[in-house]
Amino acid sequence: MKQYDLPVLTDAQAAAALDTAVEQVRVNLPLYTFRCQNHSSVQNIYPACDNDQWTCGFWPGEVWLSYERTGDEAFKKTAMTLVASFDHRIRHKIEVDHHDMGFLYSPSCVAAYKLTGDAAARDAAILAADQLISRFQPKGQFIQAWGEMGAPENYRYIIDCLLNLPLLYWASEVTGDAKYADIAHRHITTCLANSFRPDGSTYHTFFMNPDGTPSHGATCQGYRDDSFWARGQAWGVYGSVLSYRYTRNPEYLDTFRRALEFYLTRLPDDLVPYWDMIFTSGSEEPRDSSSAAIVACGLLEAVKWVGAEEGAGYEKLARQMLASLVQHYAVTDRKPGGGQLLHGTYSKKSPYNTCTPEGVDECTSWGDYFYMEALTRLTKDWQLYW
Ligand code: GLY
Repeated sequence: MKQYDLPVLTDAQAAAALDTAVEQVRVNLPLYTFRCQNHSSVQNIYPACDNDQWTCGFWPGEVWLSYERTGDEAFKKTAMTLVASFDHRIRHKIEVDHHDMGFLYSPSCVAAYKLTGDAAARDAAILAADQLISRFQPKGQFIQAWGEMGAPENYRYIIDCLLNLPLLYWASEVTGDAKYADIAHRHITTCLANSFRPDGSTYHTFFMNPDGTPSHGATCQGYRDDSFWARGQAWGVYGSVLSYRYTRNPEYLDTFRRALEFYLTRLPDDLVPYWDMIFTSGSEEPRDSSSAAIVACGLLEAVKWVGAEEGAGYEKLARQMLASLVQHYAVTDRKPGGGQLLHGTYSKKSPYNTCTPEGVDECTSWGDYFYMEALTRLTKDWQLYW
């Protein structure tokens, strides 16, 4: 693996950075207890929103991490208020006709259940898992990401879905019903067969033919169909090792290694990628700090599942990525509505992609969450929300 001569984040620095982040969460509690936090900031301040975006789970995840760090009941109270909102959302099927049930329900309701044993949180998360498997397409063996089921323009899955699969593994564990994990296995088999290119890079989205055979890779949020959307690569890195955690299938660990190796070939000097990794050192394009935080979480998860020498390399690299984030990207001026990590990119329009431009060079709710998760992983033996 590529080695870097860069500062590593010490345990003391990780704890201090996490405490700073927790205080930002505390400042934000009054704003986002009865509302949710928007997917990304506007000039580095988050608007409040209804609980109807795919990203609304990340803020409760930050609140749970803050509760774990401090034991302060104020965090638990807000998090449980948000859990009630997630319960309402799944029972009333408010904007749940897509695959992002894991992003929504793992850091909110699964976290609540794991930390407090709350039965309503568990039941809401199981309903979310039911919703997720309802999007499984037997012809092609994949979970359809978006849109009307079976519509030809949406007969596809996306790399991001790897982070939705842990909800299914968890649901099988708590219900004793293998159907959830079975669909996760089928989906990841399709994903590994098609979404990872021979060099370890990834397609953002992958279309299947109506007869179930693979069609082609295409981007939505990356620069071009054949480029390397940074966050897709990061989802590939973290998502593959998460599936390894639940299944111990060595193929998933190999996928993690290949995706990581590719990711490292396209990083600029400070280890924080441009929004698409077709852009490299010296580019004026915006970064995506959230990808660095996601990959750091993947590295710290992988440490648990590989040999000591390989693991030491991953931990050092994660600490180097986090040192860069803490030093150059973390928010230091605490303001109501402020985030944790600057310079994230949600969706940047290019001449070739199909996304709606949003959140360019801003804080992103998932960047903030994964930054706190990675720091938490350095401060304790953390029980995953995923
Ligand atoms: N899951 C969509 C994104 O990463 O922007």
